[in-house]
Amino acid sequence: MKNCLSFLLCCLMYTSHAQVSSILPSPVTYVQREGSFQINQALTVNPSEINPSLFAQLKELGTIYHQLRIEPNVQNAMLQFKKLENVKQDSYSINVAERITISYSSDASCYYAMTSLMQLMKRNENGLSLPMCFVKDYPNFQWRGLHLDVSRHFFTVEEIKRFIDLMSYYKFNTFHWHLTDDQGWRIEIKKYPKLTEIGAWRDSTVDNHYTTVPRTYTKARYGGFYTQEQIKDVVAYAEAKYVTIVPEIEMPGHARAALAAYPEYSCTGKAQGVEGLWGIFDDIFCSKPASIQFLKDILDEVIPLFPGQYIHIGGDEAPKTRWHSCPKCQDIMKENHLKDEHELQSYFIRQMDAYVTAKGKKIIGWDEILEGGLSPNAAVMSWRGFDGGLEAAKQGHYVVMTPGSHCYFDHYQGKGKDEPLAIGGYTSLEKVFTFNPIPPDLGPEVSSYILGGQANIWTEYIPTFSKVEYMAYPRAIALSEALWCTNKPTYDVFLSVLVQDHFPQLERWKVNYSKSALKASLQTFRKGNGIEIQSTGMNFKEGEMTVTTSSISLMRARKKTNQVSFTIPSNYPGIGQTVNITNHLGLGAKVNYITQPSPKYNASDIVLVDGQFGARPWKGHEWIGFDTNVIVLEIDLGKITKIREVKVSFLQDENSWIHTPNQVEIESILPVRPYLVGRSKAPSLDTKNPNSEIWNIRGFGTSQILRITIKGADKIPQGQPGEGNMPWIFIDEIQIN
Ligand code: ACM
Ligand code: ZN
Repeated sequence: MKNCLSFLLCCLMYTSHAQVSSILPSPVTYVQREGSFQINQALTVNPSEINPSLFAQLKELGTIYHQLRIEPNVQNAMLQFKKLENVKQDSYSINVAERITISYSSDASCYYAMTSLMQLMKRNENGLSLPMCFVKDYPNFQWRGLHLDVSRHFFTVEEIKRFIDLMSYYKFNTFHWHLTDDQGWRIEIKKYPKLTEIGAWRDSTVDNHYTTVPRTYTKARYGGFYTQEQIKDVVAYAEAKYVTIVPEIEMPGHARAALAAYPEYSCTGKAQGVEGLWGIFDDIFCSKPASIQFLKDILDEVIPLFPGQYIHIGGDEAPKTRWHSCPKCQDIMKENHLKDEHELQSYFIRQMDAYVTAKGKKIIGWDEILEGGLSPNAAVMSWRGFDGGLEAAKQGHYVVMTPGSHCYFDHYQGKGKDEPLAIGGYTSLEKVFTFNPIPPDLGPEVSSYILGGQANIWTEYIPTFSKVEYMAYPRAIALSEALWCTNKPTYDVFLSVLVQDHFPQLERWKVNYSKSALKASLQTFRKGNGIEIQSTGMNFKEGEMTVTTSSISLMRARKKTNQVSFTIPSNYPGIGQTVNITNHLGLGAKVNYITQPSPKYNASDIVLVDGQFGARPWKGHEWIGFDTNVIVLEIDLGKITKIREVKVSFLQDENSWIHTPNQVEIESILPVRPYLVGRSKAPSLDTKNPNSEIWNIRGFGTSQILRITIKGADKIPQGQPGEGNMPWIFIDEIQIN
């Protein structure tokens, strides 16, 4: 085998010069002038120019960013503040000349200006220096949110405050605190003490990914909750950093923790424990008046704790199974002329809407609250794509866009096999960066109802705060860029500023951020009798970012030991990668689809013969997916070849409706008359062992073109996710030996 490793240096370079500042999210206007402003000892300020809370925040920012002392000086301050009138909401400017002048329109904008100022400062041998410059800035969207699920895993008050700190440095203004779910109730309610005595604690937690078979559990008491005093403390802390907290009390679904404490508010009344498994559960709040009253009582205690405008009432993923067979729910449907259980859910939410509205607040709920008719005053958080949000906006309701495609930070952010376990999916830094809450071609009338966007951090697979930071950063910074900027730079410019100016700062703060976005991306091409793998990656050196490509070629070969490894070079610490190739006689061979794969899962036909296996857990790529149950494809080896066996690898992931097939048949159709090579029935599946998803067909002689016919089941069996639907079939790699 012949490896040829070649390096090409591309001439794409991004240096921090001219009109690119070190501020993220990027400001509307940045003009850099000659020279710099030097701060040697301390930054002096006239405290009477801003309110005491802002002065305290400035001192904290000075310390946290640069160990910089802020000192009062009434006569001759280096930093001066000016209040602006009649300008855009939350706008500010910074002028660095003989003095520094911050002009601001609101206290929040003064805080934003101070964070930008800190980001402009660079340490040198004499202290800190600022470029002579002018910054003008204001936010594009008014809702710039991050959500954190504290039910699946619990985080302490100190951790929540650190989460809020980081948010505020990146100009987020909304923290959506997901306080209740099936696996734990996390807020003290004085009228119903069992909610936290019982509902805040579970006896076991499922191990690994919940699709792993066989399922095992860690049998240990797990939980925690926040007292109302702690909540008030966090709310005040957030308020001082211009972050509004939106509490979420889930209803009618995701209620198992509450119903473990008070089963009388379910449809069956049957006692069950706080759930230790992830997923969606049939037992939800009954729609009877007593359950509605229970939830109103809870809201009576929640509402006064949170000064913000919105109370999130959940509304997502509420199966209607129990309501369907509950006499009380059915009576309510008849009395109120509700045609189905979706209308009953709408009736349920309307009562909450009226109650919360009467208390001077507004409800917001996940987009399922559209089903059965949207409540008059409700705002919608669109998570199942953009469509729900669009529909709500067209109906004149306020909307926060948080589509899974761009905003789910529980998805993988890197393609590497070393990524820590995530729920699934793939939402890269670049994908987040490209997010726009307003879909293209939407008119200004409807757009005006779209308040902004938010990322959601569901914590089924995030047991520690360190992993919360890993999943959130740097994607949260890309999101802030998407939500704040009117003048978004290119992704490469953003990345360059992020890596050179912000990664070192995150490092100093000991934030466990991810470097996955810097890993080289790999592309495989056919070349000669084999493949070429090209890697494209960033290199950072002395303030310059360069894009480097390197490549390796590999000829197909019959080998006993056919594993080849190569390392992708990088000069950024911690992002080296090793690529493993399994060579075989079909490497880079021509693939001819008689049955077309689904366009959604059809990265490139070379995926089937590129020597690289699809990753497990499945991350939404690296596999060729078919939404039909008879698949025919041909592999052309280009010349007559002696073959011993063919191995076809499939994916089994019941939760994603992906099943291995029932039969694989291989015919040789060239060089002589066609003949059946072999037929294999399903090997016995052991989900713990991916090797059991590889089908091995033996009995060959010589061949050039192999026709492979794959037959799957018509329907997913009963009792499995998606039962009754046709299963998907996913393939990656077809090895020929
Ligand atoms: C959700 O992700 N179920 C809102
Ligand atoms: Zn009921």
